Amino acid sequence: MSTAISQTAYNYKVVRQFAIMTVVWGILGMGLGVFIASQLVWPELNFGLPWTSFGRLRPLHTNLVIFAFGGCALFATSYYVVQRTCQVRLISDSLAAFHFWGWQAVIVGALVTLPLGYTTTKEYAELEWPLAILLAIVWVVYALVFFGTIVKRKTKHIYVGNWFYGAFIVVTAMLHIVNHASLPVSLFKSYSAYSGATDAMIQWWYGHNAVGFFLTTGFLGMMYYFVPKQAERPIYSYRLSIVHFWALITLYIWAGPHHLHYTALPDWAQSLGMAMSIILLAPSWGGMINGMMTLSGAWHKLRTDPILRFLVVSLAFYGMSTFEGPMMAIKTVNSLSHYTDWTIGHVHAGALGWVAMISIGAVYHMIPKLFGREQMHSVGLINAHFWLATIGTVLYIASMWVNGITQGLMWRAINDDGTLTYSFVEALQASHPGYIVRALGGAFFATGMLLMAYNTFRTVRASNPAEAEAAAQIAVVGAH
Ligand code: HEM
Ligand code: HEM
Repeated sequence: MSTAISQTAYNYKVVRQFAIMTVVWGILGMGLGVFIASQLVWPELNFGLPWTSFGRLRPLHTNLVIFAFGGCALFATSYYVVQRTCQVRLISDSLAAFHFWGWQAVIVGALVTLPLGYTTTKEYAELEWPLAILLAIVWVVYALVFFGTIVKRKTKHIYVGNWFYGAFIVVTAMLHIVNHASLPVSLFKSYSAYSGATDAMIQWWYGHNAVGFFLTTGFLGMMYYFVPKQAERPIYSYRLSIVHFWALITLYIWAGPHHLHYTALPDWAQSLGMAMSIILLAPSWGGMINGMMTLSGAWHKLRTDPILRFLVVSLAFYGMSTFEGPMMAIKTVNSLSHYTDWTIGHVHAGALGWVAMISIGAVYHMIPKLFGREQMHSVGLINAHFWLATIGTVLYIASMWVNGITQGLMWRAINDDGTLTYSFVEALQASHPGYIVRALGGAFFATGMLLMAYNTFRTVRASNPAEAEAAAQIAVVGAH
């Protein structure tokens, strides 16, 4: 048995670019989150201008955090993981570069058009048709690079992390194309090809699966690579990971109607969505347990390794939000939670606790390796970031639970004569303290991102091109 270092190198350039932009967009998207959270506390912050109003900045926030921050984290990690687990360089450097710049162009397009008020009005699919077409083209290029690299692989089998990334890529393309079918009437206005309840159903088939495949499946791909790597333990059960994969992708696609309870959607579709959502608990927890149990025998590392803490706490929040989600999908529970801040709390338990935390952990794992350094500039700062993120998330979701349940109960309270006990404004007044706590929690989380930016800057600055180049060499370990 001997070790040979092959002459070829991984394409780390595109991974570095996406990793850095994860931090940049994270700061902007979360900073904007803090701003719109503050608008709900101090409405004067709308400045009386259409461009800076909550209604226009809210979709900009969701686009920036989901597609810019989350997207860049998924692209950076998927390109890192696919190269390392397949032991080959990406199939094409120019296509990968097109992917990077094309994606940044879509986001800059969102930054300009959303505040100007150009929107399809479909949640998480707001971008008007020229940008939606650009996004589709960039996505196809991404698929070509990712799957082309898998085809070219030097290893016999395809590591399970890549299965999850692969499903995320294929299903996101399908959702985007079907939900965006529309008739353009001018450069920045189009009308959906569907109407009425059909339009709503397709939108929430898209919306829910954007959560399922963009915000969950891709990040599970991340989990399957970075948790074992950081814990230096093999994944708890490879067999469970395969069952997890097939169960998750088979079930998720049916759960969309839980977003449309008590609407014009046929009752059977609502009940089907509810039943499938409850069943979805099983694969979600299967995956969470597989990740958690990977730490068997390595739990002590949590004492000293804040990166591992980010990864493990993200799994805990994943388990929590995928317990809460099925519960909220039950029609009677949903009749209380829908339209209230409970939904917003659930969203951010998943978004901050799961999506952001696992991305942050993965980026901290990658940055030193991408730039040829032993570790991040400061482990203490990672630790501080971890606590800011954890406390921030808890403040955010706890305040929204309190607000949500308060609002739900106040809205449904009726007097003996059948009139409403509380006016809407009274419920709003009761929510005010919760909004302050949420803005504070968000500010904690966003401050953590600033520490990350500083830590990343110092790590990158300490690296020299030769070290970075050496880090990208493909180490092929094989028997001769
Ligand atoms: C500093 C961190 C953040 C803060 C302060 C924040 C704040 C907010 C606020 C105030 C809203 C509007 C709530 C409403 O309409 O009542 C919102 C919505 C939303 N945010 Fe965030 N956010 C943060 C991070 C994130 C992240 C990292 C993600 C995703 C990865 C995310 C995803 C969303 C989504 C999907 C919605 C729409 C929820 C819905 O329509 O039900 N947010 N956020
Ligand atoms: C088994 C898993 C899950 C189920 C069954 C589930 C179920 C639900 C339900 C019932 C709602 C409320 C719908 C409404 O009343 O309008 C909801 C909203 C939402 N969930 Fe989940 N959830 C799950 C996991 C997650 C995770 C892990 C995330 C984030 C990463 C997430 C993100 C969201 C978002 C963004 C919304 C708000 C959609 C909107 O109205 O704009 N969910 N989910």
